[in-house]
Amino acid sequence: MTSSRPPLRTLLARLRFLATVKVPKSIAYHFFLFRLANIELEGLNLGCGASRIKGFCNIDANRRVACDVIARVDKLKLSSNSVGAIYNSHVFEHIPRAEAVRVLTEWYRVLRPGGKLYLCVPDQEVLFRVYLDNLPLYDTTEGRYLVDRACYLTYGGQANRHDFHFYGYSFTTLKSLLESVGYEDVRRFDRSTSDIEFPRDISVAQVDSFQWSLNVEARKPDSPWAKT
Ligand SMILES: C[S@@+](CC[C@H](N)C(=O)[O-])C[C@H]1O[C@@H](n2cnc3c(N)ncnc32)[C@H](O)[C@@H]1O
Repeated sequence: MTSSRPPLRTLLARLRFLATVKVPKSIAYHFFLFRLANIELEGLNLGCGASRIKGFCNIDANRRVACDVIARVDKLKLSSNSVGAIYNSHVFEHIPRAEAVRVLTEWYRVLRPGGKLYLCVPDQEVLFRVYLDNLPLYDTTEGRYLVDRACYLTYGGQANRHDFHFYGYSFTTLKSLLESVGYEDVRRFDRSTSDIEFPRDISVAQVDSFQWSLNVEARKPDSPWAKT
């Protein structure tokens, strides 16, 4: 007599609908069902805050923001090679320096070969320059504003426990860090020429005329010999 029960593979395939539904998406994520069912996602928006990306899974540790999943971004409950793109705007500086390589490695694991990481952080080179250029003008309204603003953007708003910055990066240091993990083609990205509809979030913010967000993309290599 043959069993009429569908094989496990079919059952898991049926769980894929969870990727399209909002509330179960959160539950499924926390119960490792995404990983079990080997669900593939178009993209992740890590530390999304109020800036969602349509079609992506929007994740944040703060339950008061508009995310699909309330979770930390440093350990993803997703299968290896299962996500097309990972975007994060002004989140990576919230990761302690000692954890930075581990977290970039975790994002690399989850990305599909050829998948892209989009990483936006405060540009420490710009912020140091603004600070030093304006320190002699600290007794003027404009000088004081720019020096204090550079410090605020360096150390974070400090309004809650997820709002502290642990480290600062420039293009040179971030590129070196990303390449040490295995990412390639590290470059500044131009949101106007990308296929992804990025939100108008902190990565486009300016103080006076200076752009202080360092917006970088990096690719997980296609090669079958790439680190997984
Ligand atoms: C400065 S806001 C950026 C929000 C949005 N991405 C933007 O650019 O407008 C940083 C966000 O990251 C979240 N966050 C910080 N550390 C986190 C962590 N370890 N795991 C998940 N979310 C985190 C915060 O709750 C906050 O919503």
